[in-house]
Amino acid sequence: MKHKTPLLDQLESGPWPSFVSDIKREAEARAKNEKGVDFQIPVEVCEDILGVMELTYEQKRTHWKHGGIVGVFGYGGGVIGRYCDQPDLFPGVAHFHTMRVNQPGGKYYNTDFLRKLCDLWDKRGSGLTNMHGSTGDIILLGTYTHQLEEVFYELTHDFNQDLGGSGSNLRTPADCLGMSRCEYACFDTMALCYDLTNEYQDFLHRPAFPYKFKFKFDGCPNCCVASIARSDMSFIGTWRDDIKIDQEAVKAYVAGEIPPNAGAFKGRDWGAFDINAEVIDLCPTKCMAWDGKKLSIYTPECVRCMHCINVMPKA
Ligand code: HEM
Ligand code: HEM
Ligand code: SF4
Ligand code: SF4
Repeated sequence: MKHKTPLLDQLESGPWPSFVSDIKREAEARAKNEKGVDFQIPVEVCEDILGVMELTYEQKRTHWKHGGIVGVFGYGGGVIGRYCDQPDLFPGVAHFHTMRVNQPGGKYYNTDFLRKLCDLWDKRGSGLTNMHGSTGDIILLGTYTHQLEEVFYELTHDFNQDLGGSGSNLRTPADCLGMSRCEYACFDTMALCYDLTNEYQDFLHRPAFPYKFKFKFDGCPNCCVASIARSDMSFIGTWRDDIKIDQEAVKAYVAGEIPPNAGAFKGRDWGAFDINAEVIDLCPTKCMAWDGKKLSIYTPECVRCMHCINVMPKA
C-alpha cells in the first residue's frame, strides 16, 4: 500500500466485516488491473482514500473541503461534491464526488445489470460502491468532476437509470418489495413509488425546498423500509376493515401443527408454542383473549402492530 495506516489497520481486527479490508482489496485489484480497465481517474484512488483517512485520524481534523455545487447539467442534485485539501499528498482523491443513482423499485436487479454497473464504476470512478445508502440509492463513491457527465450519460442512455436526489431536493423515494413477493402487502408499494417518483421528477432533480424531503413506502406496518423513521412522509399499508381470524388455523398453531413465525426461528428448540406467552400477552394494547378454543380480538383497540400476524401468519 502507498500509505502506512496503523490506525485504520486496527479497524480490521474485530470479528465484523471491515470497510478498511474492503478498500484495501479494491486498491490491490486496481493496482493489478487484470481486466485491463481503461481507468479514467487515478489508479491510486483507493490507496489515497485510506491515506487521507489515516491522516484525519492522526490529526483529528478533516481534510475534505466543502464540495460546493458540482453536478450534471440541468440537475441540482444527485452528486455530492468533495474535494481534498491535500491534493498533492493524495492525488487519487483530489476530487471524490459521490453519485446517487435512483435504485429500482423493490431493489430488483439482474446480475447483468450489476456487472455492467461495476464495470462502469471501475472505469469512471473509484470502484467503491455502497448498496444501498440510507436514502435507498445505489451509491457510487468517489470520482472526478470530469467524469460526472460521462457517468450520467451512460446511466441514462445505456442503463435506463437516473440520478437520485440530494441536498434540498425530494430524495429518491424508496419502497419495500411489497406485492411482488410479500403476502402482507396491503397496497402496491412499487406502483405508488414509481408513480410518485415520476410525478415529482422536477423536485427530485432541482432543489426547491429549504431542507431535504423524503417519501417512503411500506406495504404493511412491519415497516421493512422503516418509512416511519426514515422519511418525512411515510406511506404504510393497513387493512380497511376489522382484523380477520381463521380459528381453525389458530387451533393448528396451538396444537403445534404449523410452525410459529412461519418457521423463522425453528433452528433452535424453543419448546412448545405457547399462545398466551407468545401472542396474547405481547399484544401491545392487550386487546386479545384466548379461551382455549377461540381467539377473540377487540378490534377498536387493535393498533395493527402486526405482532400476532407475524407469529401466526396463516391465522
Ligand atoms: C451530535 C451530533 C449529531 C447529531 C445528533 C446528528 C444527527 C443526525 C440525524 C438524526 C441524521 C438523519 C437525518 C435524516 O435522515 O433526516 C443525520 C444524518 C447525517 N449526519 Fe448527522 N448528526 C450529528 C453530527 C454530524 C456530524 C458532525 C456530521 C458530519 C461531519 C454529520 C453528518 C451527517 C450526514 C452526512 C448525514 C446524512 C446521512 C445519510 O443520509 O445517510 N452529522 N445526523
Ligand atoms: C468510502 C467512503 C464513503 C462512504 C462509504 C460513504 C457513504 C455514504 C452514504 C451511504 C451516504 C448516504 C447516501 C444515501 O442516503 O442515499 C453518503 C452521503 C453523504 N456523504 Fe458519504 N461516503 C463516503 C465518503 C464521504 C466523504 C469523504 C465525505 C465528506 C468529506 C462524505 C460526505 C457525505 C455527505 C455530506 C452525504 C450526504 C449528502 C446529502 O444528503 O445531500 N462521504 N455517504
Ligand atoms: S413492509 Fe410489510 S408488505 Fe412490505 S415487505 Fe415488509 S412485511 Fe412485506
Ligand atoms: S395486530 Fe397487534 S395490536 Fe392488533 S391484535 Fe395483533 S398484536 Fe394486538
